[in-house]
Amino acid sequence: MSKILVIHGPNLNLLGSREKDIYGATTLAEINNKLKSIAEKNNVVLETLQSNHEGEIVDAIGKVKQNQIDAILINPAAYTHTSIAIRDAIAAVNVPTIEVHLSNIYAREEFRHTSLIAPVSYGQISGFGVSSYILGLEATINLLKK
Ligand code: DQA
Repeated sequence: MSKILVIHGPNLNLLGSREKDIYGATTLAEINNKLKSIAEKNNVVLETLQSNHEGEIVDAIGKVKQNQIDAILINPAAYTHTSIAIRDAIAAVNVPTIEVHLSNIYAREEFRHTSLIAPVSYGQISGFGVSSYILGLEATINLLKK
């Protein structure tokens, strides 16, 4: 069975109460449950991690080969725009990585327009709320079936 690691970056633990007008009212637990049910239906194993710490995310990416992860689905949150370390980790492990964002980062403040992660990602989905995660997972599953 294929295994996908879902990584949620900083402050996404606050979903449900955080800037609801931008990120919606769905909690992270609800998102993970939805993703897990889609994964189950497709016979895919899902591991999830939320971290507010860059190093913890870098460590998790660095262990994907050891943990037999076939693909990564990541919302790097604010680290999207700042983290060379996460970008380098993704480049280092060479496992297909799909980047997702709840909000449309290109329609927001200018500092959000640059993703350091996009150039090392297979693709990016941005702006569809919780559907960004669902579309991202479906795309990842389709990719693994190829
Ligand atoms: C985000 C967009 C980022 O710019 C922001 O820092 C986040 C969430 C999104 O999902 O829309 O924390 O990644």
